[in-house]
Order: sequence, then C-alpha cells, then structure tokens
Amino acid sequence: MEHLKVAIGALAIVIGLSLIAGEAPAQSAPDWGKAEYESNCASCHGLGGKGDGPLSESFRPKAADLTTLATRNDGVFPAQRVYEIIDGRQEVAAHGPRAMPVWGRDYRSHVPDMTLGDIQIYGLKDAVAHNKLVALVDYLHRLQVK
Ligand code: HEC
Repeated sequence: MEHLKVAIGALAIVIGLSLIAGEAPAQSAPDWGKAEYESNCASCHGLGGKGDGPLSESFRPKAADLTTLATRNDGVFPAQRVYEIIDGRQEVAAHGPRAMPVWGRDYRSHVPDMTLGDIQIYGLKDAVAHNKLVALVDYLHRLQVK
C-alpha cells in the first residue's frame, strides 16, 4: 500500500512537471506599429522601409526610403513631421489628398477641421486613430539606420 502511495505521488509529480514544461511560452506583446506599417505602407515603401515596395516603381519619384529619415535630418528622427504626413496635415502627392489618402480612414479624426479667425484648428483625433499613429511613428523610428 505504501509503495502504491509513493508511486501515485511520483506519478503526480511527473504529470505536474510535464504540464509546467508543456505550458505555452509567454506571448510577446503584439507590435501594433509593425502591423499598421505592413498593412498601409509596405506596398510602396517596402517591408524593410527601404522604398522598394512592389508599387514603388509606379511613382516618380519612387517611394521614399523611410529608414534614413533621421540621417537626412541631422540625426534627429522627425517624429512630428512623420505624424503630420500620415494624418494629412503635410501632403505627399503619392499618398493621395488629405480627404482620401491611400490608407483610407484609418488615421482620420472624427471632428472636422475649423478655422477661427486666422487660426486653423485641426480636428481632434479620437484615441484609436491617435494610438495607431503613435504606434506607426514609433515603428518607423525603430526602422532608422544607425
Ligand atoms: C501608394 C504608395 C504609397 C503608400 C501606400 C505610402 N507611401 Fe509614403 N510615399 C510615397 C511616395 C511615392 C513618396 C515620395 C514622394 C516624394 O518624394 O515626393 C512617399 C513619401 C513618404 C514620406 C516622406 C519621406 C521623406 O523622405 O520626406 C513619408 C514620411 C511617408 N511617405 C510615410 C508613409 C507612411 C507612414 C505610409 C503608411 C501609412 C506611407 N507613406 C504609405 C508613396 C506611398
């Protein structure tokens, strides 16, 4: 009887250990910026950001190399400029006009732009659009060549 108890105890330990060992590896956090980039930018700018996406050849000039944004700006990544290019405040002809960019409504604010006297007030971005934009800008920052 004692032997049986020991055997059952040992078996329980073996099963327990194998459950722990078989546990799924800790999931790494999803990379939202990369996902945004791959769905909305890579077709022209290329998966690695080098400007060599399959559609790039159709444009004159070709899609820009997005890995050298910092080196072309005295080593400083132009985060604000990139943000404004994507939200449409700075237009790039190949991206389409502000009202209908190639990536559709993904980064659009839901409040219309207004002018107050001389001051142009841009629509407040909803949190989802803003967060997608920040994730994308962060991803482009990480793509910079050293
Ligand atoms: C339909 C093709 C196309 C898509 C899609 C596209 N781009 Fe572009 N983009 C271009 C082209 C072409 C240029 C270069 C325009 C020029 O130099 O006049 C450019 C220029 C830029 C620039 C300016 C680069 C510089 O050197 O000043 C940035 C930043 C940029 N794109 C970011 C993006 C991001 C971020 C996305 C995705 C949200 C995106 N683009 C999607 C075609 C595209």
